[in-house]
Parts: sequence; structure tokens; C-alpha cells
Amino acid sequence: MKIIEVTDTNDFAIKSVEFFEKFVTHNSNSLITLPTGNTPLPFYEKMLGAYKKNNKINKFIYLSLDEYYGLEPDDHRLFANWLDREILTPIGVSPSNRITINSACNDVEKFCQKFEGQIESKGGIDLAIIGIGGNGHIGFNEPGSDLNSPTHKVELTQETITSNAEYWGSEDAVPKSAITIGIGTLKKAKNTLLLVRGANKAEIFKATLSNEISSAVPSTYLQEQNNLTIIADKEAMKLL
Ligand code: PGA
Repeated sequence: MKIIEVTDTNDFAIKSVEFFEKFVTHNSNSLITLPTGNTPLPFYEKMLGAYKKNNKINKFIYLSLDEYYGLEPDDHRLFANWLDREILTPIGVSPSNRITINSACNDVEKFCQKFEGQIESKGGIDLAIIGIGGNGHIGFNEPGSDLNSPTHKVELTQETITSNAEYWGSEDAVPKSAITIGIGTLKKAKNTLLLVRGANKAEIFKATLSNEISSAVPSTYLQEQNNLTIIADKEAMKLL
């Protein structure tokens, strides 16, 4: 495990894009999950600037990490649509290089098996870029999740619904269930980059690294993760 401590938001953005650019340059067409939420916003902003200098930064295959369940394909709340608008289309990741979760699938089990098959057919996840929720969730693997599960459907916790309401205006606008890549599949990622930012993550970051590994705090699986790099700011690291 390598922890890169950054001083501020700009340093966070610089170091995370440096990591990403180096990875994509050395591992062309690799399969990469991209997180959503507040944490990675400076990373994406800096990536748009990096693309202007290096248009090969888009040579990767985007893989959905998690997605709300039950929304129509054009719903603006879909994480894949947010990423499409804000980063994937602006840097020119073609639709054929995106493997996304079908929020509107009826047969969830069948969809999840197909999705896992798509990951396997690409040789597995090359780089899982992830964040941590305040309750220790990774993707939408909420507390209590089986740490060996593949992609599956989950019911969101009240804490996650409340935290996601800030993006969509009200709790009513937040879907109550989701499909997420399971921790069992994330554990097999060849490389992992965890992004952590802000004082509100200090407690969960400490628990992630020091609690016993258990589904009570799903992010604790990272303690045994191979090739894990963490980019964290001083605020998030203040309890370590
Ligand atoms: P946040 O979400 O970056 O908005 O805190 C992180 C997560 O839930 O994974």
C-alpha cells in the first residue's frame, strides 16, 4: 500500500491526474472504473486540462463502478450519464469503449452475470479508481455487504440516500436501490486507486485502515488489497 499525502485540493488534482495519465500511458486500453461524488471533482477538472496537452489520455475502457437502479437510459441522474457529460465525451472516450450498468434491466441477476462476463472477457479490472462513503461503502457496497460478492443489486442505506440528496435536491429524487460491482470483484482488480478528501472522511479513513476487516466497514477489505495507492489530503489523514 502506498499513501500519497497531498497538501490541498490543487495538489490532490495534480497527483491524481499524474497517476492516471501515467497508468493509461503505460497500459493502453485498460479497463478502469471511475468514481462519482464530490471527492473526485478536482481530479476530473484537472483531467480536462490534461487532455488538451495529451489527447492519448482517453485510451482506456470505462467500466461503471455502480449505478442507481430503475432509471431510464436518458435519466440525467445516472452516474454513467454524469460521467458522459462531464468527462467521457469531453475527453473523447468513444461509446464503444464504455461498459455500463443497465439501470433499466428487468432480469437483474441475468444482467449482473453478463456484466461480470464482460469484465472477465477484458481480462479483469486493470485499475479500480474508488472513493469511500462516510459509512465505509465502496461503490454501493453498503455496510453488511458480503466482501466476496460479485456485481449485484443493493438497497441503499438511509445515510447514503441522505448524502446523495445533496446532488438531486431532495431525498425523494434519490433512487432507493442500485447495482454495484461487488467487493469480491473489486478485490481481483490488478491495481486500485483510492481517493480520499476532506475532514468528514477522517474517521472512516482511519477505520478503513485500522479496524478489523469486516463487512461492517466494507472499505476495510483494502487493507489486504494488492497494488493499492491512496491519494489523501491532510484533512482526511488527520486521525491517522
Ligand atoms: P463523496 O462520495 O465523494 O461524495 O463523499 C464518496 C462515495 O460515496 O463513494
